[in-house]
Parts: sequence; structure tokens; C-alpha cells
Amino acid sequence: MSKPLRIGVAGLGTVGGGVVRLLAENGDLIAARCGRRIEVVGIGARDRTKDRGFAVDKFAWFENPVDLAASDIDVFVELIGGEGIAADAVRKALATGKHVVTANKALIAAQGAELAAQAEAAGLTLNFEAAAAGGIPIVKALREGLGGNVVTRVAGILNGTCNYILTQMEETGRPFADVLAEAQALGYAEADPTLDVGGGDTAHKLAILASLAFGTVPDIAGVYTQGIERISPVDIAFANEFGHRIKLLGIAAMTPRGLEARVHPAMVQLGTALADVMGVLNGVVTESGAAGTSVFEGRGAGAGPTASAVVSDLIDIARGFRLPAFGVPSGALVKADRAPLGEREGTFYLRFDVLDKSGVLATIARSLADRGVSIESMIQRGRSPDEKVAIVIITHDAREADVIGAIKAIEAAGAVVEPPCMIRMERL
Ligand SMILES: NC(=O)c1ccc[n+]([C@@H]2O[C@H](COP(=O)([O-])OP(=O)(O)OC[C@H]3O[C@@H](n4cnc5c(N)ncnc54)[C@H](OP(=O)(O)O)[C@@H]3O)[C@@H](O)[C@H]2O)c1
Repeated sequence: MSKPLRIGVAGLGTVGGGVVRLLAENGDLIAARCGRRIEVVGIGARDRTKDRGFAVDKFAWFENPVDLAASDIDVFVELIGGEGIAADAVRKALATGKHVVTANKALIAAQGAELAAQAEAAGLTLNFEAAAAGGIPIVKALREGLGGNVVTRVAGILNGTCNYILTQMEETGRPFADVLAEAQALGYAEADPTLDVGGGDTAHKLAILASLAFGTVPDIAGVYTQGIERISPVDIAFANEFGHRIKLLGIAAMTPRGLEARVHPAMVQLGTALADVMGVLNGVVTESGAAGTSVFEGRGAGAGPTASAVVSDLIDIARGFRLPAFGVPSGALVKADRAPLGEREGTFYLRFDVLDKSGVLATIARSLADRGVSIESMIQRGRSPDEKVAIVIITHDAREADVIGAIKAIEAAGAVVEPPCMIRMERL
């Protein structure tokens, strides 16, 4: 057997702890698969006294991750997160000749191209399978398995917290705030849930998947991002009535106008692959030239699934298998134009809360018709002169800017008593 691959693990939280435990548990199996052992030699976190579920004194302890990165190891495993000390440590590791494995989506989405170039220039590997969809091997699928295809679209449910909340809202009819509070109490949502429910976490993952799919520089600022905070049980119930379900999707497509990358709640038809991904699970659908549609589903977060992804990256390095971080040499990554979302054509779900007065429906219909937005179906719920009633419309294919223009005109005409709700409908 060749000499062991010596690794340093910075960050011993959910993922870092999971990695150390998985390597211990499956050490023999992994050694048999790689022809060498993967040996943890150094570890580090903020608090040495915390119970990690394993004996920390078996390993050299590093208070500062930058020192661990510079120590006598072959691979630096960054499992701290964020763009502060984690970024400094990753740069140090690459500067001192260490391969890097990270689960840090924020770092890869923002600085991935730069780090890939630094790794490449030094003949080192930068792997980040765990940075998108956790236990689903979607990075490898795009970089390797679908390598012979022109990929045209990647769409996914990439945040388990949001999917859990939406599933609970649908199953219990309870509002967003209630379900979020319960998810926090159960540990399914962070104390500060903004990055998850606001769509930012999905945007990081989508920026990475888009880069792998289309050979583009990751462009987090170019991802249109809208969260699930405004989704109400009413819209979930209407979606079901129309044979749909609401999911927080990340969708990236290469269009003639440029790269379209968007994160927002969307209605997907019941019975289709992503509609059936429930609870904390993640799901990804890729569309590509030769392979056609491929569907992936699995656990996107948690110690086990994420450690599984990190260890698969380590196994590649132990085997001597090296690929450019984003599947193409970093110098070949192109800076894609951003496709303006307003030009996108699609169908839309619109809900207007109005007072049931004469002329209101006519105002809505005229505002839509004036902009060439035609109605495929409509439901009116409630019929009381003094109470608000919901008018729900599904449009035919329409330009997004026209739909938004019509909504603004309807609001300006004083026809609604609450801000209107628009949810994009996706054919996947
Ligand atoms: N959790 C998931 O399911 C999941 C899934 C996919 C990707 N990821 C990514 O994996 C990374 C780690 O996530 P996590 O959930 O494992 O986070 P976590 O549980 O909060 O763990 C973070 C670890 O980093 C250590 N740390 C923080 N600041 C440090 C500093 N300045 N110096 C040294 N150590 C420091 C913490 O030390 P202490 O323990 O001493 O506080 C802790 O061990 C993130 O990039 C995250 O986005 C997580």
C-alpha cells in the first residue's frame, strides 16, 4: 500500500466532525478503494474543550486554521465556512503546496474562479463536491458524468430547510412564520434563517452548478434571488387546485441572451420529479444534449451526507485523480452575459386580493390585455361586498416584464387591498 494521504481538518462542527468520524468508521474500506489510507494528522476549531464525539488529543491541534493549512499535510480540508479566515486558510494551503477540499459554497461561489486558478498554477487540486446539494454527487455528475454533453439547463431544490418548511406548510396549512419557528426549535433551521429562507444559500449553490454546467465564471451577483418568506398557505392551496406544488427552485439556463440564473419560489406540476421531492430532501434535474433529462435526489445537508461528499473528494486526491475545479481549465472559464429576467417568457400564477366591487375584474383583465398577457384560467373566491376576495389567474406564456407592468398598473389603479402575489410556473 502507498504511503497515507495526510490531511488537516479545519472546522469540527456538523461537517468537520462528520468527516473525522466517517474516515475512522470506513477507514479500511476507503484504504482498500484508494490503495492507501487517508490519515487525519491535524485538526482545529475555536474551542478545544468541546465534545466532538471523538478524542481530539489523538491529533495535532491548531487554534489558527492558517497555521494548520501551512503545516506538514498533503490536503487541507476547510470546513469552517464564510469568506473570512476560511478564505485566508485556503489561500495559505494553496500557496504552501496543499490540495484543498472544501464544503464552503459561499467561498466557491464568490472566489471559486480565482482559487481554481491559484490551484491550477501550483499543480494542485481544489475540490468542492459538498458545496452544492450535500450528499448528491452533482458536482461530479456535471464535471465528469455529463462531460460529453452540452448542458442546457440545471434546476434544483437546493435548500433542505426551505423544502421542509414548504412541505410542512402544505401538509398542515400553517403559515410560514409558525412553521419556521417550529423548524428552528427542532434544529432544522438556523437561529438566523435569513440565508436559507431568503434564497441566498440556494443562490450560492446555483452559481456553482451554473459554472460547472456552462463553463462560466461563478457569478453570484448575477443570480436573481427571492426567498419563500411571502409564500402563504392560500397560494399553496391554490397551487394544489391547479395541479401544482410550490418549491424554492434554483434554475440556471444558457439562453441566446446570456446566462439566466434565478432563485425563487416556483410552481411545479404535481407528478414531476422536483414536485415529489419532499421534506428536507434536495433534488436536481439536468437537461443535456446527449443524455437528455437526468434526475438526482437525496440528502443535501447534515453530518453524514456532507461528510460523504467531502470524503469522496479526498478519495479522488488519494487515488491521484485530478480535474480542473470547474471541469475546464480556469483560463477557459468565460464571463457570461446576464440574461435580463424581464425578457424571459413563461406562465405565471397571479393572486389579487380585491374588494368585490364592479369594475375591479375589468381593471385587472384590461391591464393584462393591454400588455399582451392572456389569461389561461381564473378562479374567484369569496363573494361579499365588504370583504376581500381572491382573484387567481394563470396566464398563458407571457414576457415577464409585461406581467410585472400589468401588476404595477393594477396596484396603481387602486384595484387591490393587499400587494399582489406573482409566482412563476416552471415546466421541468
Ligand atoms: N451543515 C451542513 O449540512 C452543510 C452542508 C453543506 C455544506 N456545508 C458547509 O460546510 C461548512 C461548515 O459548516 P458546518 O455546518 O459544519 O458549520 P458549523 O457546525 O458551524 O462548524 C463550523 C466549525 O468551524 C469552526 N470555526 C469557526 N470559526 C473559526 C475560526 N475563526 N477558527 C477556527 N475554527 C473556526 C467552529 O469551531 P467551534 O466548533 O469550536 O465553534 C466549528 O467547529 C460551511 O461552509 C457550510 O456552508 C454545511
